[in-house]
Amino acid sequence: MTETATLIIDGRSYELPVLTGTEGERALDISRLRSRTGLITLDDSYANTGSCASQITYIDGENGVLRYRGVPIEDLAARSSFVEVAELLIFGELPDDEERAEFRDLLTENSALHRDMRKHFDGFPADAHPMAILSAMINAIQAYDLPEIHITDAGGFRRAAAALIAKTRTIAAASYKSHIGQPIAYPRYDLPYAENFLHMMFSVPYRDYEATPEVAHALNMFLVLHADHEQNCSTSTVRMVASGGANLFTSVSAGVNALWGPLHGGANMAVIEMLESIHEQGTPVARYIDQAKDKKSGVKLMGFGHRIYRNFDPRAKILKQAADDLLESMHITDPLLDIARQVEEAALADDYFRERRLYPNVDFYSGIILRAIGIPLDMFTVLFAIGRTPGWIAHWKEIHDNPDQRIHRPRQLYVGDPLTEWLPMGER
Ligand code: CMC
Repeated sequence: MTETATLIIDGRSYELPVLTGTEGERALDISRLRSRTGLITLDDSYANTGSCASQITYIDGENGVLRYRGVPIEDLAARSSFVEVAELLIFGELPDDEERAEFRDLLTENSALHRDMRKHFDGFPADAHPMAILSAMINAIQAYDLPEIHITDAGGFRRAAAALIAKTRTIAAASYKSHIGQPIAYPRYDLPYAENFLHMMFSVPYRDYEATPEVAHALNMFLVLHADHEQNCSTSTVRMVASGGANLFTSVSAGVNALWGPLHGGANMAVIEMLESIHEQGTPVARYIDQAKDKKSGVKLMGFGHRIYRNFDPRAKILKQAADDLLESMHITDPLLDIARQVEEAALADDYFRERRLYPNVDFYSGIILRAIGIPLDMFTVLFAIGRTPGWIAHWKEIHDNPDQRIHRPRQLYVGDPLTEWLPMGER
C-alpha cells in the first residue's frame, strides 16, 4: 500500500503520496497539489525541493556519503580513471575492457576541434576569462559538428558524449595557450585523459611536458571527485535547459556558466585568493575567522559550508590527504597549505561554524593541488568544469531518455504591484 501524508487546508483533507528512495530517504509527492487544492509550495532557493527522481548520484549529507551509481567515491578516487568514471556516470556501469577501449577510441577520434573553430580563439580579448571562452566554445561546437547534435540512437549519443568530454579538454587547453601566446598543442593519443590535458597545457614545440605519476594521479583524482554531485546549481541548470528540448552542447554550455559563480565552482579560485590575501597581508587567522562570522563584513570563509553536507564533505577529506601527498612527493612547501590547515583548525573549533555545521567542502583543498601542478588560478574553475562534464552529460541523458519528461517550469508567488493604471508620458 502506498504511504500517504495528510494535508488539511481550509478544513479539507488531502492525501499526498510519500515516495521512498533506494536508501530509505522519503519525499512528499506534491505534483498534483495545485490541481487539487489551488495552492503551490514556496521554497525559495530550493533548499527543500526535490526537482526529480534520479538514478545517477547518491549523497547522504548527514553522514558524508557520496556514491556514483552506487559505487563509493573513495573507491573510485583511489582506483578508477576519470574516463572509466565518466562511463559509469553516463552509461550506468563500470565499463569492461572492450567498452573502455571503444570509448577511449571515440575520445581520441573526437578530441580535435574543427579547423575553423580555432579562429574563434582569436576573437576573444587576450584577458578574456577562460570560463567565458569555455562556455562560448562548447556552445559553438554545434555549429561545426552537426551530426553529433541530432541524437537519434545510442551510438550517436556515445559519439556526442565522447566528443563533448574530449573537446572540452581541447578547448580548455587551447584557451590557455592562446592567452599566453603559444601554439596550440595537439592531443597525444598514447596518454590517458588527465596526462593528455597536462601535455596540451604545458608542452611546447621544442619540449614535451611529461607528468610525473604523482601529478597525473592527483589530477585524475581531482577530476573523478568533481565528476558529479546530483542536483547542484550547474547540474540543475543543465537539466532545466535540457527539459526544454535543447541539445547536449547548449545545455552543457549553460551548465558551465552556472558553475562560474563564487558560491559554486568559482569557490576554488576564491579559496586561493582568500589564502593569498591572508598570507600577503599577514592577517592573523583568528581575525579572518572573526570577519567571516560577521555578516556585515561581506567576508565568507570560502571553501566552507555546503547546502547538503552537514558533516565533512567526503571529497574534501580525500583532497586534503591528496594535497599533503602531492606536495611531499614534489618536495614543495606551500605556505598557503599551512594557512589552510590553520584556518580549518580554527573554524572547526569555533562555535559559529560548529553550531551551523560548516565544514570544509571540495573547494577548500583542491586549489592547493592545482597550484602545485602549475595550473594558473583563472583556470581552476575550468578544471572543475572539465571534471563535471560527465555528470552534466549523464543528467542531460536522464532528461532526454525519459518519455514522461515535461518542461521544467517552476511557479512563483507574485508579490509585486497590484493592477496598475497605464499613464501617458506627461502624467508619470
Ligand atoms: N562562511 C561564513 N558563514 C557561512 C558560510 C561561510 N562559508 N557558509 C554558510 N555560512 C552561514 C550562513 O551565513 C548562515 O548563517 P545564519 O544561519 O546565521 O544566517 C548559515 O551558515 C547557514 O548557511 P546557508 O546560507 O543556509 O548555506 P547555503 O546552503 O545557503 O549555502 C554555500 C551553501 C556553499 C553557498 C555557503 O556555505 C557558502 O557560501 N560557502 C562559501 C562558498 C563555497 O565554498 N562554495 C562551494 C560549495 S561546494 C562546491 C560547489 O557546490 O561548487
